[in-house]
This record gives sequence, structure tokens and C-alpha cells, in this order.
Amino acid sequence: MSTTFTLDTSTSRANPTPAPMKRLTIPAIQSHKQKGVTAQPLVMLTAYTARMAQLLDPHCDMLLVGDSLGQVIYGLPSTVPVTVDMMCAHGAAVVRGSYHSVVVVDLPFGSYEASPEQAFATASRILKETGCAAVKMEGGEVMADTVRFLAQRGIPVMGHVGLTPQAVNALGGYGARGKSQAEHDKIMRDAKAIEEAGAFATVVEGVLEPIAKAVTAVSDIPIIGIGASVDCDGQVLVIDDMLGMFERVPRFVKRYESLAEIVSKAVETYAGEVRSRSFPTGDQTYQPK
Ligand code: KIV
Repeated sequence: MSTTFTLDTSTSRANPTPAPMKRLTIPAIQSHKQKGVTAQPLVMLTAYTARMAQLLDPHCDMLLVGDSLGQVIYGLPSTVPVTVDMMCAHGAAVVRGSYHSVVVVDLPFGSYEASPEQAFATASRILKETGCAAVKMEGGEVMADTVRFLAQRGIPVMGHVGLTPQAVNALGGYGARGKSQAEHDKIMRDAKAIEEAGAFATVVEGVLEPIAKAVTAVSDIPIIGIGASVDCDGQVLVIDDMLGMFERVPRFVKRYESLAEIVSKAVETYAGEVRSRSFPTGDQTYQPK
């Protein structure tokens, strides 16, 4: 499938409606799980830019504009400083670069926790300014009323339980969750509460595998794992991690490429050619006719 950018005009009045096809929908994502069983796991990756979205879109069911962009794109120490403006700018770029996947945008820390009304204001701004289909928010039981408030008002919500990186200051780090029975029980309750509140899917991050399996088994909505279990209803990874853009990656990441090395080698070659005046050559310069 071509990855050349194609404007999504399927909702315009252009006639005939241009190819390619319509986007996947939230009900289509939910329908992957029938009677508690997912025949084909859902594929989700993070994306932050239009060009990366173009490359990922043909292969994914969902693109997540994660607040991990704080570290990945902006070099911030955590997701805590990420702003709604950042999420809107990158969310809009990812929607522009995709036409197939459902685009989900994270609600950043501080933009939704105070009240359901605050969450609605932030989520509706993100939907309007980006064109995404859904938002994701971290938190379990404590966020259930907020999930319900948004879902009942037409905003699809993806939950996020287990390791919730926005709470790094309270958790004291990014270690796996669920090591004690109390934590195990809380993760189970959190996932159930979010589902009952109307979330269309939930990310379960950084938990002991038996917990991920148990959450997946008892949930009627798709459970998307990251550092969780192959038995989840889908998987998500941070794109820069799986492409090998960073030296350090969490244990649960599989590197499918070593892009950092490829980039370094290319730039080293370029720098050498500039310094030795072997770039540009005749092929890259304009000559008078
Ligand atoms: O922000 C993010 O990238 C995420 C994924 C790791 C699930 O929330």
C-alpha cells in the first residue's frame, strides 16, 4: 500500500468520494472482541508526526498520540510537563498523516483529573482541534465517573491502568505493578470500573503477566497490553522504542530495528563528505543550460 500522503476527504462533499477507504471506527475496534474472545489481536503504535503516521497507518488498527511525546519528542524528564497544546499539535499532525487507523490522543497530566467537566472541556477541545476519534486517560476507579461523563456525551474513552506514568511522582518509578495482593486486586478493580463506566478499550501497562491475563479474561472490552501479556486483546509500543531510537529501553520492548545506529552512520558519512568537499556533487547541483 502506498504511503504517499492522501488527503482524507471522505467526509467532504467531493464527488466521487476519493479512494482510499473510510477510517476504522470505535465500534469496529470493539467488535474485535466477541463474547470475551479476540480472534485477531489489535495493533496499536504511538505516532507523533504526520510522516510517521503515514508509515504506520497501513499496518495498524489504532495510532496513539501518547503523552510519551514529552520524553520522545521534547526530551522532557517525564510526561508530567506535557501540555494540551502539545497534544493538539501532534494529534492534528497524526490525523493528517493517516486515513485508516483510529487515532487516540492522550489527555495530559493536569488537564482532566480535577472534575468530569474539566475532562470534557479538554477532551472536546482535543477532538475539535485534531480530528481524532477518542481520548485516553490514566486512572482506574477514581476516574470512573469522569469516563462515564465523557462516554455519555459522545466522547470515546480509552482507559489506562496498571503502571500509569503520569503518577510517577506518587509511584516512585516505572517498575512493574501488581507485586502485592493489594496491588493485584486494585488493578483488577480499576479495569472493571473503567469498563463499567463506558470505556471502549483499556491499556494495561507494566503489570505481572497473570494480572494482564486475568484482566483480559474478565473484560468484555479490548485490553491493549504494553509490558503485559501476549494474551491481551492487542498490543501497543512506543514507536521510537521498537525502532531502536534510544539506547535504553524498558525490558518489555522488543527492538525491531536499530534506527539510532542507522541515523548516526548516515550523519557521520554526510559530515565527512561536507568537510572533505565531496558533497554536493554534480548530481546535486544546478548547472546553467
Ligand atoms: O503515552 C504513551 O505512549 C502511552 C503508551 C505507552 C500506552 O500511554
